[in-house]
Amino acid sequence: MRKQIVAGNWKMNCDLAETDALLNDLKKQSIPDSTHVMVAPTYTNLQSAVRSLEDSSITVAAQNMHQSESGAFTGEISAAMLQSIGVDHVILGHSERRAYFGETNELLAEKVTTALNHNMKVIFCFGEELVDRQHGREFDVVKDQLKYGLFHVSESDWQHIILAYEPVWAIGTGETASPEQAQEMHAFIRKTLAENYSPSIAEEVSILYGGSVKPGNASEIFGKADVDGGLIGGASLDAESFTAIVNAFQ
Ligand code: 13P
Repeated sequence: MRKQIVAGNWKMNCDLAETDALLNDLKKQSIPDSTHVMVAPTYTNLQSAVRSLEDSSITVAAQNMHQSESGAFTGEISAAMLQSIGVDHVILGHSERRAYFGETNELLAEKVTTALNHNMKVIFCFGEELVDRQHGREFDVVKDQLKYGLFHVSESDWQHIILAYEPVWAIGTGETASPEQAQEMHAFIRKTLAENYSPSIAEEVSILYGGSVKPGNASEIFGKADVDGGLIGGASLDAESFTAIVNAFQ
């Protein structure tokens, strides 16, 4: 049985006081046991978020980490540092990291390995750009992102991996993939996993959709057979909208 997951990627939003306030609002909402809820505040607020959520079922994830163990990498954060404050989930490969910080599939493969070596759980993001879809190459792009960024992991590693398909053209644009487009890609991802690993791994991995998910469209998207939840940007910054999305599974 695949896990239903809804994760809020807060990106570079919310200072310490705003983070505390949002978490307090979230803790007042009712969250069903059937859904694993995560939030990913910015680095400076991870530790306070972990403390704030100590008695809650909500998990704290980091938005990124460096691939090296430690050393002269000014401004970077390691897996061990995250774990030392109680964070053992990390988002890797977000399209904003790929586009603005030059993260390649090869670099991401290293980050994935480091995270898994530290027994961290990885939320691995990928997705095509608008130009790829316009040229009908969205499936090839997605397959390559998986092949070169992720398919070096072993079969047993898959229990620590969550996939997040985020078509770049739908992120923060108000443009959403239709439920049918999301389902079509998620089914393709599962088929690719079955071909490269095994049908049972393909069946077990949770695949989230991300890109302009809102309370008004979540239930239709989450209702699709191969969509196991969402990675939410803008709408996760408001406790009520986020909770409405968390409760959108049919
Ligand atoms: P939006 O929900 O704001 O489109 O962002 C999606 C996203 O990038 C989540 O990681």
